[in-house]
Amino acid sequence: MAAIAVVGGGTMGNGIAQVFAAKGHDVTLLEVDDARLERARAAIRASLDRIVKKGALTEADRDATLARVKGTTRAKDLAGVSLAVEAVLEDLAVKRDVFQALDTVLPADGVLASNTSSISITELAATTGRPDRVIGMHFMNPVPVMPLVEIIRGLATSDDTYAKVHAWTEALGKTPVEVRDYPGFVSNRVLMPMINEAVFCLMEGVATKEAIDAVMKLGMNHPLGPLALADLIGLDVCLNIMQVLHDGFGDSKYRPCPLLRKMVAAGHLGRKSGRGFYEYAA
Ligand code: CAA
Repeated sequence: MAAIAVVGGGTMGNGIAQVFAAKGHDVTLLEVDDARLERARAAIRASLDRIVKKGALTEADRDATLARVKGTTRAKDLAGVSLAVEAVLEDLAVKRDVFQALDTVLPADGVLASNTSSISITELAATTGRPDRVIGMHFMNPVPVMPLVEIIRGLATSDDTYAKVHAWTEALGKTPVEVRDYPGFVSNRVLMPMINEAVFCLMEGVATKEAIDAVMKLGMNHPLGPLALADLIGLDVCLNIMQVLHDGFGDSKYRPCPLLRKMVAAGHLGRKSGRGFYEYAA
């Protein structure tokens, strides 16, 4: 079983660590301090507890899964891993630093994957000395529940790297889908303009937020309406991805809705700030 590293223990990172550990991989989770490591571990435990509660996991398996996740704050502890999945802030400078550090620490045949939803894999790969072993592994939120992993091939990603990541993804019980490296890949190129258009509908008074969400839930069988989904994803993340699409294609069809910009400027970021299009109890 390959040793795995996950860099960043936020919502996506702790979910990724959980799904690898649940399938028997030893996972080293790298964070910047112990408090963040503790929060990540608590989130993994809470998610596993949900699965125990509905009878799909025993308490012994939960404890064994948790025991396979080791936390560290030192990059050098990742020296023996076959795959590192980066899930830090969506900030090119921060990711570049992480990739350069991983490149110096991982074994020569180690694969560097990014869970980025918006940054070019080709650009990240170019900051390392192993662009053929750099790839995108884009998990969906909530990671333990969603079956898709979008696998993004950068310009230099080798067939061997793709094949390894495809196989690791299938072994997680998830479905890999191969995508080339263009802005927003497929997931966010299709999803975000829909969310942005829903915000335009709200801004223009076409319908209430509840009505907009009801149309997509009841009419198109989406589990969440687009405005509720934007709150789940984070409005700042949605705005950032619209900007990536707008800049990347230079096409006005991707212009972010002014109401989306205003909500982000006001700090109404969705569930994580307690208020987005809807309000959330603390
Ligand atoms: N860990 C473990 N299990 C979890 C979980 C977690 N974090 N979150 C939910 N679950 C499980 C629940 O236990 C429940 O299991 P059962 O059906 O077996 O009982 C199931 O998932 C459904 O959960 P709930 O009943 O609590 O709530 P729900 O029916 O509203 O489903 C949801 C929650 C799965 C999140 C659903 O609302 C949904 O599918 N939403 C859309 C999610 C989506 O579109 N994600 C993609 C976002 S875009 C993205 O991630 C990419 C990007 O780059 C922005």
